[in-house]
Amino acid sequence: MIISGNDAGFLWDFEWWGSRERLVLSLVRACCHNKKLIYFQEMGWITNGKCHSTKRLDGKVVIVTGSNTGIGKYTALDLSRRGAEVIMACRNLEKAKEAEADIRKRVPEAKLKVMHLDLSSLESVRTFSKDFLASYDSLHILINNAGVMFHPWELSKDGFEMHIATNHLGHFLLTLLLLPLLRKCAPSRIINVSSIGHRLSSSMRYDDFNYERSYSSIGGYTRSKLANILFTNELARRLKDTGVTAVSLHPGIVNTELPRHLSDSFFPGAYWLYTNLGWWLMKTPKQGAQTTLYCALEDSVESGLYYDDCAVGTTSAKSKDPNMAKELWEKSVEWVKLEKDYQI
Ligand SMILES: NC(=O)c1ccc[n+]([C@@H]2O[C@H](COP(=O)([O-])OP(=O)(O)OC[C@H]3O[C@@H](n4cnc5c(N)ncnc54)[C@H](OP(=O)(O)O)[C@@H]3O)[C@@H](O)[C@H]2O)c1
Repeated sequence: MIISGNDAGFLWDFEWWGSRERLVLSLVRACCHNKKLIYFQEMGWITNGKCHSTKRLDGKVVIVTGSNTGIGKYTALDLSRRGAEVIMACRNLEKAKEAEADIRKRVPEAKLKVMHLDLSSLESVRTFSKDFLASYDSLHILINNAGVMFHPWELSKDGFEMHIATNHLGHFLLTLLLLPLLRKCAPSRIINVSSIGHRLSSSMRYDDFNYERSYSSIGGYTRSKLANILFTNELARRLKDTGVTAVSLHPGIVNTELPRHLSDSFFPGAYWLYTNLGWWLMKTPKQGAQTTLYCALEDSVESGLYYDDCAVGTTSAKSKDPNMAKELWEKSVEWVKLEKDYQI
């Protein structure tokens, strides 16, 4: 292995050193399961892309949803180091304040603001947007990062299945309410954190949208991640030539709190098994945030594309279906009761 001057520093950075160790283990495993090589690669077990941008974001305003933990917290930390004013849009203010304090310890000059946002409630999304627009006159990057996975069956306050409510509809409404400001501040970016899991979903299930006939938490999650990509593609099409870039991404398989509902949805102890036996295969939150940072910072990023491991990635055939994207857009406009002024 050749390590050049610039890269050599990571040897002393445990998180990157850890990824090299995992690379060796993954290669050994990949030799045994040749056909699965591609999956290892896409999950980030072999490749571990890094955002090398040195861009500063002084004077820029960024919103990161779900930034009290996991990928979102590291994203907020990195963007704070670059001088951005970061709004931590979180549902649990106590946890968010702790995360804010932790970031401040590491970045004393951080310009952070915690604001309440519960994406599973359309009312909360509207209140957040109203408060944000009353306090800020610019927004340069919106990072739709928050998410739930393998949630037990539950309807949101507004009557939608919890994954689609939180991961898609909340972010859909938030984006469209903030879009006039993003357009005013162009060049600006909208980054939707999706997942490789979208490949397991092939339909929006409009005939049983809330899974009332039969529920699968894997189905609920993967459908919401397919919705993230369909939304991004249709948004990018509608925003062509406006200077607002919209992209989606897969962060890799990352060791975060995301599988917290595993034990409730599958079997007791499933969460413990996943985190305690699987951690060595996963990216750290710092590694998992790299593709988000790449999408936020790199000049080469193109609207309408999907990124994986800090490079353009490939998505399922269904996610590229323009009719499916248009249909989801139109239904989402209706469901979130979007006013005419905000429609594009
Ligand atoms: N980790 C992975 O392997 C992986 C793989 C593919 C894609 N992703 C995607 O990456 C994104 C970040 O996930 P993560 O791994 O960092 O998970 P995480 O550690 O569980 O973080 C998720 C964040 O979303 C917040 N959130 C959940 N429901 C919310 C709601 N109703 N309103 C506002 N915020 C809410 C959580 O807040 P609380 O702490 O209050 O619950 C938390 O801050 C998600 O979109 C996920 O689908 C992750």
